[in-house]
Amino acid sequence: MTSLDGLDGKVAVITGGARGQGRSHALTLAGAGAKIVVCDIAAPIDEVQYALATSDDLEETIQLVKEAGGEIAGMQADVRSSADMRAVADLAVSQFGRIDILLANAGIHDHAESTIEIEDDAWQTMLDVNLTGAWKACKAVVPAMIEGGRGGSIVITSSVDGLGVSPSWGHYGAAKHGLQGLKDTLAFELADYNIRVNTVNPTGVNSPMAAGLSKVLPHVVRKWKHNDRTNLLDVMMLEPQDISDAVLWLVSDAAKYVTGIDLPIDAGYLTKH
Ligand SMILES: NC(=O)c1ccc[n+]([C@@H]2O[C@H](COP(=O)([O-])OP(=O)(O)OC[C@H]3O[C@@H](n4cnc5c(N)ncnc54)[C@H](O)[C@@H]3O)[C@@H](O)[C@H]2O)c1
Repeated sequence: MTSLDGLDGKVAVITGGARGQGRSHALTLAGAGAKIVVCDIAAPIDEVQYALATSDDLEETIQLVKEAGGEIAGMQADVRSSADMRAVADLAVSQFGRIDILLANAGIHDHAESTIEIEDDAWQTMLDVNLTGAWKACKAVVPAMIEGGRGGSIVITSSVDGLGVSPSWGHYGAAKHGLQGLKDTLAFELADYNIRVNTVNPTGVNSPMAAGLSKVLPHVVRKWKHNDRTNLLDVMMLEPQDISDAVLWLVSDAAKYVTGIDLPIDAGYLTKH
């Protein structure tokens, strides 16, 4: 057994787990032995132009993990609500006794012709979900991690846009850059409890978010392609599993001395741009 297999006895909370990367993370961590608590808004948000996950999607993640032999509990919860995030943490503790891992993965995307043309409510919603939502998830879960007394691992899903530029989606980039600062601060503050905090920074991932955006905003996606915002390696989109493999490493004992880092899974995107 490598240190990568060793999530037996660990409990992982995953936000935005009804589909896409969150679902893939749930299946991957369950496959490595972790018990999973998954949550998702599973409902539309007015300012988001593509369809978010549904309660059927959330149920499908739960069933897929069970069919694969994993243990999982789930609930609808909005990362913008501290009460919802506390309810998710409570579910994890009541169901499985503890929390060892948090994947703050929930997120939305949006494009405008340019950043100064972003509507006020679209800007605010982006910051509320993608930045404040990750903080609220951490705030709800960390007390149980500390109480558990065995340390922990938090992985915040940022983006290459958290480390580079994001033309036409400056609110997304601002939120993701904010996550880098949140990660640094939490890594510093939680080190005494042996709670590690890192970000993953994916390039484009073949998820329902990407598919939804290209359907509702084809003109912006065309502009994006025209500007050659492509990867250095010869791959247009990564698969969710590519990100899950990095997350699995970060939460495992193989990364027990890794904290405060940004981990681009970007096919060389940041080197190119
Ligand atoms: N797809 C990409 O190209 C890409 C690239 C880099 C980073 N990311 C980031 O990866 C993460 C996962 O995205 P994905 O690609 O799997 O997209 P996705 O849309 O398939 O999954 C995101 C999930 O978050 C949920 N969600 C949205 N708002 C929520 C809220 N307020 N509360 C709870 N859940 C909420 C959605 O319902 C959805 O199930 C996001 O943070 C995203 O910003 C995506």
